[in-house]
Amino acid sequence: MSKPISLTVLDNGPLKVSADSLTLHYCGEPLEVEAGSDVYICRCGQSKNAPFCDGSHQKVGFVAEPPKGNDKDIKVWEGKTIRTFFNPNTCMHALYCKPLKDLRARELGGDTDAAAEIARVVMSCPSGALNYESTEVTPPQSADGPDIDVREGGECRIQTAFQINATPGERQDMSRATLCRCGLSKNKPWCDGAHKKREDFK
Ligand code: FES
Repeated sequence: MSKPISLTVLDNGPLKVSADSLTLHYCGEPLEVEAGSDVYICRCGQSKNAPFCDGSHQKVGFVAEPPKGNDKDIKVWEGKTIRTFFNPNTCMHALYCKPLKDLRARELGGDTDAAAEIARVVMSCPSGALNYESTEVTPPQSADGPDIDVREGGECRIQTAFQINATPGERQDMSRATLCRCGLSKNKPWCDGAHKKREDFK
């Protein structure tokens, strides 16, 4: 089994990606990554060689404050057979969670299929802001896709086991996240959907 991908958020600079092997897509197309070499993904949104850093962050004086909030902000919802967690600090507001309100009502009302549906919706959340615990539910299959999916005009999606130093001095294990690369998020390194304000951004 290969080691988790290591992500290092460099101070006021790019995202360093270290991995034994890595699949990376940009605007839906695969990019070749040399096995074992590090990759630097632009976080300031100014690189002329997107998605990679070209040093422009120094010219534009890119400043990235550490993220706000902590685990005390996580909201827990208790169902009969499933518990969900929502971390507002990593949410990119993609709204995949919309069906949850109805599904939760069904689950509490005794609908035995609802917990599995809740788990499927939770695991479709690209930012990983949603998670769940249940001994009753068979984990849904994870979606196929590259380890890192750099979306056209959007965020950098990580969809594999990885470690990251999102909070300075700490490394945490994660398996889904959406990271800012337009430079506008108010909660870097996480995407908060701010790229939608940049029409020129690719
Ligand atoms: S972070 Fe280096 S060019 Fe954007």
